Amino acid sequence: NEGALWGGRFAGGPADALAALSKSTHFDWRLARYDIAGSRAHARVLHRAGLLDDAELAGMLDALDRLDADVTSGAYTAAESDEDVHGSLERGLIERAGTHLGGKLRAGRSRNDQIATLGRMFLRDHARIVARGVLATVDALVAQAEAHPEAAMPGRTHLQHAQPVLLSHHLLAHAWALLRDVQRLQDWDRRAAVSPYGSGALAGSSLGLDPEAVAADLGFDSAVHNSIDGTASRDVFAEFAWVAAMIGVDLSRISEEVILWATKEFSFVTLDDAYSTGSSIMPQKKNPDVAELARGKAGRLIGDLTGLLATLKGLPLAYNRDLQEDKEPVFDAADTLELLLPAVSGMVATLVFNTERMASLAPQGFALATDIAEWLVRQGVPFREAHELSGAAVKQAESRGVELWDLTDEEYAAISPALTPEVRTVLSTEGSLASRSAQGGTAPSAVARQLTALKAQLADA
Ligand code: ARG
Repeated sequence: NEGALWGGRFAGGPADALAALSKSTHFDWRLARYDIAGSRAHARVLHRAGLLDDAELAGMLDALDRLDADVTSGAYTAAESDEDVHGSLERGLIERAGTHLGGKLRAGRSRNDQIATLGRMFLRDHARIVARGVLATVDALVAQAEAHPEAAMPGRTHLQHAQPVLLSHHLLAHAWALLRDVQRLQDWDRRAAVSPYGSGALAGSSLGLDPEAVAADLGFDSAVHNSIDGTASRDVFAEFAWVAAMIGVDLSRISEEVILWATKEFSFVTLDDAYSTGSSIMPQKKNPDVAELARGKAGRLIGDLTGLLATLKGLPLAYNRDLQEDKEPVFDAADTLELLLPAVSGMVATLVFNTERMASLAPQGFALATDIAEWLVRQGVPFREAHELSGAAVKQAESRGVELWDLTDEEYAAISPALTPEVRTVLSTEGSLASRSAQGGTAPSAVARQLTALKAQLADA
């Protein structure tokens, strides 16, 4: 078993079945450049601790540079006999630096602290890429909101007509959720910015190495305070997977609406050709596949999170080989979002809204009934009674197959003398919208202030 990282106490090599099971180079190879960065930092602390002399450090760094170049160019790749990225790169280092010098680098570190550190480095980089993708989607929502400042639509609860709202208000509701996801990634980074390097296998190192120096070298804020925690914990991975799943869920909720809005029955939006697909048999079809794939991939992202949590549940401290299963879920979560976000932001940016149809439906289905009740409250009627009276107006309109504004003055007066013709001032979409002008409301004035507040947080994100 030439080149393996262990074997001294074994009489023979591993069974083929074990070697195949154990192997992780097909997915951990993407950590190769982080591994080499870790090796450079580790060489420097070995030097500072007096375990490498100046010439050895220079030789080590030179060999690592050459290895890095060969990994980048593809000239050096994992061999069939390599178990994982760490072992393979040690083989590559020894090929370049010789057995004597190359064999010195492993002192005071373990694959257990390496992998925990490299995973965090990878995820910190990808969290930034994902955050940029989410911000692009927020930008697309904001641009659509700004392009439709006064457009009304039916606001729904239980998917039933509830009250008129501004389209911009609705779109910004999605924007706030996604902005919080970006803020979550940024807050997560404070916990991810702690380096496990120096924890060794689990107990720390006896060689006088400085974990804080390695941490700083690798762009971390600090080093872990507990080597067992450093090697055994994966909550930082799981938290990343949770935020990724939440982003997936938030994108899925936008997508579900786009799918509904694009139906013949709703006819609220037209998808741009570049973000829709056709059917191989039905020539007329224009399908919202981006939105459907977003909805589908939310399930996959939830699976990544639950799979990882299931792996962690019940693991005793410290490192267990089960932890090798930590990487594929978080890699998949990052890859999935990096693929998905540009498509969703493009789809949102190019949606064409049928604002006339949305506005004409906004007050329908008795969506102004709450406005009648609140108008009565402003006339001094207790809300319990106002609710009843407005409900009676709905009943009357429904029995005649008309809308609330079609009832005559006499019909209103017959329900209650409090329902004077003045009530008609609130029986319009514009009147209803304008009245909800407090912070968070759907009045155009309130939504304008909302947009300012959102942009201020976006500027900080
Ligand atoms: N490849 C392992 C992982 O991904 C790291 C190696 C630790 N292996 C071990 N036998 N201690 O977790």
